[in-house]
Amino acid sequence: MKIWQKAIGNQKEVESFTIGRDPEFDIILAPFDVLGSMAHAEMLAKIGLLTAEENQTLQNGLREIYKEIEQGKFEIAPGVEDVHSQVEFLLTERYGEVGKKLHSGRSRNDQVLVDLKLFYRAAISDLVEESRELFELLLELSEKHKGDLMPGYTHTQLAMPSSFGLWFGSFAEGLTEDLGLLKAAFDLSNKNPLGSAAGYGSSFPLDRTFTTDLLGFSDLHHNVINAQNSRGKTERTLAFAMAGMAGTLNRLADDVCLFMNQHFGFISFPDDLTTGSSIMPHKKNPDVFELIRAKTNQIQAVPNAVSLILTNSTTGYHRDLQLLKEEIFPAIDSLKSCISMTAFMLKSIRIRENILSDSFYKHVFSVEQVNELVLKGVPFRDAYKQVGLAIESDDFAPDQSKLNHTHEGSIGNLCTEQIREKMIRALDAFNFNKVESALNSLIQ
Ligand code: ARG
Repeated sequence: MKIWQKAIGNQKEVESFTIGRDPEFDIILAPFDVLGSMAHAEMLAKIGLLTAEENQTLQNGLREIYKEIEQGKFEIAPGVEDVHSQVEFLLTERYGEVGKKLHSGRSRNDQVLVDLKLFYRAAISDLVEESRELFELLLELSEKHKGDLMPGYTHTQLAMPSSFGLWFGSFAEGLTEDLGLLKAAFDLSNKNPLGSAAGYGSSFPLDRTFTTDLLGFSDLHHNVINAQNSRGKTERTLAFAMAGMAGTLNRLADDVCLFMNQHFGFISFPDDLTTGSSIMPHKKNPDVFELIRAKTNQIQAVPNAVSLILTNSTTGYHRDLQLLKEEIFPAIDSLKSCISMTAFMLKSIRIRENILSDSFYKHVFSVEQVNELVLKGVPFRDAYKQVGLAIESDDFAPDQSKLNHTHEGSIGNLCTEQIREKMIRALDAFNFNKVESALNSLIQ
């Protein structure tokens, strides 16, 4: 029996096709569904649609379900369409009539939206925390290896001197920028859609500011149609933000695979972090980083999948939106594990020292040589030609121990403190404490 069913049910085929994989993801939404219902019931009591006693019964009942969810005892029963129906069925089964009153002034369309926004806020908070830990490690490695030089490449060809300090630090600063995109996704997730109901509001005098405060949202989507249209926009923004972080990790993973290659041999990992071959006894493969590379590429495909699901939809709710969960939820989990595995692996990275003292790498010092001549008064274009000719005639023997990079962000001046400041500013922009304390008082 569906909550919307009057007399005639659906054909089994229609039921299973429309429900699809949704229960898998709705289980994840369960605690947030309960929180949304708690706020809605409080509001219904405030505007006189529930008595104080009815509200108390619902709050106790919802708190009980919340505990069951935490203990892993909650499930969506076979034949029940979704998490929203399951919670309402449980309340009605346990407390009778009052369970049937909870849905006044609301639709599953705004209910699922609230659930999703609360879930995304929590997921973003986890992603930020994982990123912060990886960031700390990257900065630590950057400082530790600031004197360890390596070749820098352009076109995958030897280019100029670089360093592990610069390399690690690049991903640390990159993460601070990725958090800027994630903040945009957080802002969209942090707006209350509750009260938009099916998408056109309600004739009850709903107090939307009240539920906004109860759920710790920073604001509400005022226009009810816009509130509904935020489903999809929120996911697309989150998908792009996750793709940004995935892009940063992907580059790092790709570099690691290259630098571990025997022709490079710049870095290595303890044997128990690499994988072997069933036939070649010498193998120490970078499977973890290869999988991070593939998974982060999968994540970078999500904005496209999300955008296509949203294509051609007119104003208002569409069942199409349900499938966004199948794209976004697994991507969140995958990204979290890619960030934490990157940190797990980097804790054990070993860096080869003195890479650039090998004469094999002498050409990466060509620009140093040109610049030295410029400092002696030779015009740049002439100095360039002079060094170029020396290289052509194999007469080029630079001092491979001398480097003098001092400007901001260069090998000799990593600006670690400035990068750390950027992270602090990026983290401060998220107001997770407000969210946490609002939800805590709701559940008390
Ligand atoms: N599972 C549905 C979704 O994710 C819940 C909302 C159903 N609303 C409806 N009008 N059929 O979109």
